[in-house]
Amino acid sequence: MAPTPFIIVAIDGGAASGKSSSSRILAERFDLLHVDTGSFYRQLTSELLQRGVPPTDLPALSAALDRLRLDTRLTGRSAQMLVDGRPAGPEIRSARVNEQVSHYAAVPEVRGTLLGYQRGQADVARRHGLRGLVMEGRDIGSVIFPQADFRFFLHADPAERAKRRAREGQQDSIAERDRIDSSRKASPLTCPAGATDIDTTHLTLDEVVARMAAMIATRLPAATA
Ligand code: DC
Repeated sequence: MAPTPFIIVAIDGGAASGKSSSSRILAERFDLLHVDTGSFYRQLTSELLQRGVPPTDLPALSAALDRLRLDTRLTGRSAQMLVDGRPAGPEIRSARVNEQVSHYAAVPEVRGTLLGYQRGQADVARRHGLRGLVMEGRDIGSVIFPQADFRFFLHADPAERAKRRAREGQQDSIAERDRIDSSRKASPLTCPAGATDIDTTHLTLDEVVARMAAMIATRLPAATA
């Protein structure tokens, strides 16, 4: 019998495009590690804000980043980043972090700190006996895993995305974040060539998942129905 392949699924898209919900379901269905890289940028932002290091003070930022120790622990199938042994708290979804995260994420030193860590999640998945990983973010299919087995890019109308955030009870300037994330020099948010582009505006979550799952199932049988 052929060994089960180890697969990497990259899901990129703007804020509230449907990445998180769909990647969680896919992780469950195909027995993959779920990696939400936006939460890593949020966690570093929160950490740096607490230390009073602004994104514009490069020497202080580099010194602070150099001292951080990043580890991973699993909660179910989700990778949780530990910064100096501490997991992220609810503050990573606060209005302040929503407002600041794109500014920190635009700094190459911040991205460089997370680059190797994110790629290392493939080893974490293997160590835990999972069949691969599904990683969501902005530059996964373009920079982190350009050779991923499946690369998806999700987008939706800004009005629909604002409604989704409001339903989650979050105050989030998604249009402004997308503008900064798409126009930055370092690894901007973009649909990489060859990725499958899905407009989720008029699709239900089940429909979005079904499209992606049908493609993944050509390589890896689902672990659950
Ligand atoms: O997915 P999210 O909205 O929680 O991401 C928060 C921010 O993190 C987003 O505005 C930009 C940044 N980010 C990034 O630059 N690259 C990634 N791979 C993931 C997130």
